[in-house]
Amino acid sequence: MRVAFTVNGKPVAVDVEPRLHLADCLREELRLTGTHLGCEHGVCGACTVLLDGAPVRACLMFAVQADGAGIVTVEGLSLDDTLTPLQAAFRKHHALQCGFCTPGMLASAHALLTAEPDADADRIRDALSGNLCRCTGYIPIVEAVLEARAAYRKPGAP
Ligand code: FES
Ligand code: FES
Repeated sequence: MRVAFTVNGKPVAVDVEPRLHLADCLREELRLTGTHLGCEHGVCGACTVLLDGAPVRACLMFAVQADGAGIVTVEGLSLDDTLTPLQAAFRKHHALQCGFCTPGMLASAHALLTAEPDADADRIRDALSGNLCRCTGYIPIVEAVLEARAAYRKPGAP
């Protein structure tokens, strides 16, 4: 089946099997391997991308369901070669170790701060509760997201 959507602002069209899930479409058809696959059944959050601004698990939806949508992957969070304030805060706070969870964490945190730039630590923990990390213990991740809030309060936020 032919499916067309935008990824990181660029229109794309690909022929896919109806059963192909969005994460495999992004990784294997479009070579956007920043979207990671862990559990492949909706538990770990590693595959989280933004679909029309909302965080979704790309392993739980078919690529054909994204027809006409606007998708943002971790590769599209920064529009140039610099780190976004959220990414810079992750680096500063050592909010990643192996980095496997990081694309999904960044996508979920970006969606949260875009909608709720005043989110407190409890709200951040709640919003990221669907993203599992086996390395950090979560505290530095929450600290990074707390710090990044200031950037999302400014006009023209990331
Ligand atoms: S790979 Fe999609 S939720 Fe784990
Ligand atoms: S940094 Fe390794 S799983 Fe989160």
